[in-house]
Amino acid sequence: NWTMDDFIDMKIDEIREEVGDKKVILGLSGGVDSSVTATLLHKAIGDQLTAIFVDHGMLRKDEGDQVMKALNKDLGVNIIRVNAQKRFLDKLKGVTDPEKKRKIIGKEFIEVFNEEAKKLKDVDFLAQGTLYTDVIESGTNTAQTIKSHHNVGGLPKDMHFKLIEPLRKLFKDEVRVLGEKLGIPHDLVWRQPFPGPGLGIRVLGEVTEDKLEIVRESDAILRDEIKKAGLQEKIWQYFTVLPGIRSVGVMGDGRTYDYTIGIRAVTSIDGMTADFAQIPWDVLGKISTRIVDECDHINRVVYDVTSKPPSTIEWE
Ligand code: XMP
Repeated sequence: NWTMDDFIDMKIDEIREEVGDKKVILGLSGGVDSSVTATLLHKAIGDQLTAIFVDHGMLRKDEGDQVMKALNKDLGVNIIRVNAQKRFLDKLKGVTDPEKKRKIIGKEFIEVFNEEAKKLKDVDFLAQGTLYTDVIESGTNTAQTIKSHHNVGGLPKDMHFKLIEPLRKLFKDEVRVLGEKLGIPHDLVWRQPFPGPGLGIRVLGEVTEDKLEIVRESDAILRDEIKKAGLQEKIWQYFTVLPGIRSVGVMGDGRTYDYTIGIRAVTSIDGMTADFAQIPWDVLGKISTRIVDECDHINRVVYDVTSKPPSTIEWE
C-alpha cells in the first residue's frame, strides 16, 4: 500500500545508488513519459542528467516552448533543445506512405539524438520513459502492429549505455500523478495522447512546412474551443487533419479553390476501440467558423463520424 510520495523517495534513492557520480542522458520527445522521467532524474541527480530535446517541428502549437518553460526554466532540468524541423522535412520530402513517414521520423529522431549524445563526454547511462504497458505490449502481436506504434526514440544501437527506466512499473495515470507531484503543471501532464510522429501523420501524404502550419493553427483553434466549452476532460482525443483535398468555395463575389480540414474527436478507454465524440453542433459551428476565418487556404471543415473499428483514430 505505497503512496506516490513513497514511490518518489524510493526511486530517488535507487537512482542515486545506481548512478553514483556518473552521467545520464535522456531523449526528450516533449511527451508526458519522457518529461516525467527527466524531472524525476533531475530531482535525484541534478545536473548529472542531460536531457536532449529533439524538437522535430511537428509538435502542437507552442508545445516545445511550454515543455522548456516547465522543465528547464521553472524546474531547472538541464536540457539541450535541438530545433531540427528542417532536417526532418528534408528527409520527408516526396514521401507519402504513412508507415514510411513513421519510420523516417523515428530513425531521424535517433540520429539527431545520437549526434548530440556523442558531443557529451563520459556518459554511462541512458534513461528512458518506458511504462508498464510498453513492457507488456512489446512482443505481442495484436492489432497494435497494424500501424507501427513505435514512439520516437528507442535505444541507439551502436552505443553502449546502461539503461535506466524508472517508470517501468507504472501505468499512464500513475505517471501523470507522479508528474504533478514533481511540479510539472497539471495541463502539461494531463495532455491528451499525442503520437510520436506528431503532426507529421496529420498532414496526409507529403509533409510540407506550409501544410504543417495549417494543421498546427487549426488544431490550436480546436483545442481552444473545446477547452472553452469545458469538454477537454470528456473527450479522449481531439485534433484536426489536413487530408490534402481541395474543393470549391465562395468568398465575397469570388470563387475559391482551397483545402478542407477534418476534425477528429473520440471517446475511448485505451485507444484500441473508440466512438466519435458527440460534440454539440454549436461548438462545432464555432470551431468551423474560426478555422475558416483564421487559417489561410481553408474553405471547408468536415467532422469525422466514424468509430474505431472500422476506422482508426488517426487518419494515417
Ligand atoms: P489509431 O490511429 O491506431 O491510434 O487508432 C490509436 C492511438 O495511438 C496513437 N498513435 C500513435 N502513437 N506513434 C505513437 O506514439 C504512432 O505512430 C502512432 N499512431 C497512432 C493515436 O494518436 C491514438 O491515440
